[in-house]
Amino acid sequence: MNTTLTEQVGSELAELHEARTYKRFLTLSSAQGPVVEMAGRGEVIVLSSNNYLGLAAHPEVVRAGIEGLERYGAGTASVRFICGTFEPHHELERALADLSGTEAALTYVSCWNANEAVIPTLTDASTVIFTDALNHASIIDAVRLSRPASKVIYPHSDMVALRDALAAAPGDARKLILTDGVFSMEGDLARLPEIAELAREHDAVVIVDDSHGVGVLGETGRGTVEHYGLLGEIDVITGTLGKALGGAAGGYVASSEEVCDLLSQRSRPQLFSNALPPTVACSALRAVELMLEQPELLSSLRDSSRLFREMLVEAGYAPLEGEAAIIPIIVGETAEAMALSERLLDEGVFVTGFGYPVVPEGAARIRVQMSAALEPEHLERAIEAFRRVKT
Ligand SMILES: Cc1ncc(COP(=O)(O)O)c(C=O)c1O
Repeated sequence: MNTTLTEQVGSELAELHEARTYKRFLTLSSAQGPVVEMAGRGEVIVLSSNNYLGLAAHPEVVRAGIEGLERYGAGTASVRFICGTFEPHHELERALADLSGTEAALTYVSCWNANEAVIPTLTDASTVIFTDALNHASIIDAVRLSRPASKVIYPHSDMVALRDALAAAPGDARKLILTDGVFSMEGDLARLPEIAELAREHDAVVIVDDSHGVGVLGETGRGTVEHYGLLGEIDVITGTLGKALGGAAGGYVASSEEVCDLLSQRSRPQLFSNALPPTVACSALRAVELMLEQPELLSSLRDSSRLFREMLVEAGYAPLEGEAAIIPIIVGETAEAMALSERLLDEGVFVTGFGYPVVPEGAARIRVQMSAALEPEHLERAIEAFRRVKT
């Protein structure tokens, strides 16, 4: 081992510890749910997972995964065009296209990969990319991997800035507007109707990453696009299977037949990386079906989100406003957010703190997330803990 590297890495780690921003991996010995068994802590209430619909350990989701494993084995053992695609991949892709209101969908092993697939593939030498300043890291990295003629990072949800930037772009450029549907650290929604309108005016393409919107927003859980009545009008939607839709892993691009076809031919994470494991394809498919069959999951998530916001305000906190299931509470400095998260954990409530560089300096926060699996008694116990730790 190169000792210089070891020393350099050691001092970088020491800086993280010193700044109290070192992230610990807390070990769980039970399935993801409203409460989990955490090593050294016992039972804790989970207010920090993306298990929005509570399907991660749903018996039917688990059973579908087991059946997939028994029938198809562990995986494709190669990339799809080399070694074959399993039936559940096609079934899941059909279901995801229907869910998204698009002609087709293509799966990847993560939404990170899906973003890194679609953005560079749709970027040509003429392309100008317009990307919201608060977009997810996977979009930021995907833009770095693309080679556009130029890029514009517009201030968060600033439609005037976006309009001016679109107007200033060369008329013959391909224009890609990239936005999260629900912004993961703020919990607010993209101004999609205005974005879609600007795109129409300037002949631009809209790509929405709706990882935190699908399974949360819209009358039937189809996400931010459904929430705004825009199903069928957004060019490309990307999403994850690692949150509301089963919580395992995996992502997808939903778009036209042509875009998905081109991705199958050109996108590097599809051509040079293994397919989604069939276990995940089967369990995610069951999760999509359950969401559509059991609308009470969505209403329970929404009721809990509304109720817990109110409880937090009553307890003296000032959560950011929003319609999604993400409830951030800004506390200021990173160390304060970490300390609050630790005090809550001491009280048996698991809520993660986020600081710089994940969020801007001075805007460190804890991020509360709701789940349909949380019962009123969990919310009551959790708010008692919030009251106790309030300084
Ligand atoms: C908006 C957004 N996009 C993409 C991702 C990445 O999803 P995955 O875990 O499927 O790679 C996340 C996960 O945190 C996310 O919040």
